[in-house]
Amino acid sequence: MRKPLVAGNWKMNSPTESSTILLENILHHTDQLKKMIKDLNTSSAIDIAIFPPAVYLREAQEILTGSGIHWGTQNVSAFDEGPYTGEISAAMIEGFGCEYVLIGHSERRCLYETLELDQTVLDKIVAQKYEMATRHNLTPIICIGETADDYEANKTEEVIARLLDVLIAHKGPKALSETVLAYEPVWAIGTGKSATPEWAQDVHSFMRERIAKHDKATAESLQILYGGSVKADNAAAIFAKPDVDGGLIGGASLDVEEFIHICFAAALKAS
Ligand code: 13P
Repeated sequence: MRKPLVAGNWKMNSPTESSTILLENILHHTDQLKKMIKDLNTSSAIDIAIFPPAVYLREAQEILTGSGIHWGTQNVSAFDEGPYTGEISAAMIEGFGCEYVLIGHSERRCLYETLELDQTVLDKIVAQKYEMATRHNLTPIICIGETADDYEANKTEEVIARLLDVLIAHKGPKALSETVLAYEPVWAIGTGKSATPEWAQDVHSFMRERIAKHDKATAESLQILYGGSVKADNAAAIFAKPDVDGGLIGGASLDVEEFIHICFAAALKAS
């Protein structure tokens, strides 16, 4: 049984004061969640990870250390160090006690990284970032998803297979056992229009099968999260699908009550 993971991506939200309050509230509510999980009478539990903007990592480290909640960054540089203005290296991130890093989020691909680059080059950058993260003991959560145009053109599997193949070619299929994958259809992000549980299941199962062709054990143990308009009221149905191992949550992770309900939906799956 794969352990569910619920990851909260705050994106570029939350000013200093409220980021501290938000972290403290999550901590407080997580204690309640732990009691609820105990009431479910389950020996297994879930993992929770928070991704605040990088300037709040110190607060995350101070508040979350020892709580059992993990934290990480929303991006990492593809380089070790040097003249890369505005970038943050994996070594720096490791220094803040982070355990996870998001890589290849579509908002980075679409807004900043597409400049003159085609998707194949972008996939290679994702693979380079993946290399940096694992070198510094960070677990990469690699985001993959099709745009609305790809979806309409029936190209979902093609888009996903392309990046998976680059990752497998880069470090071999076994290395994927140290990563988490997140299926995030771009058309579902921030739109309120989530993928149906059935659609998410089909895509996750396609991803697992593609990896299984190279390494069955890795495919079986790999956590695959779903992200895109997950809320308290749809999380349980999506997480109930066999190949969905939790969620990557955007907007709803900024509302503590909502976020904890989503975590509880993941705990139900584990029970
Ligand atoms: P929403 O949950 O706001 O749709 O965002 C999903 C996402 O992009 C998480 O990384």
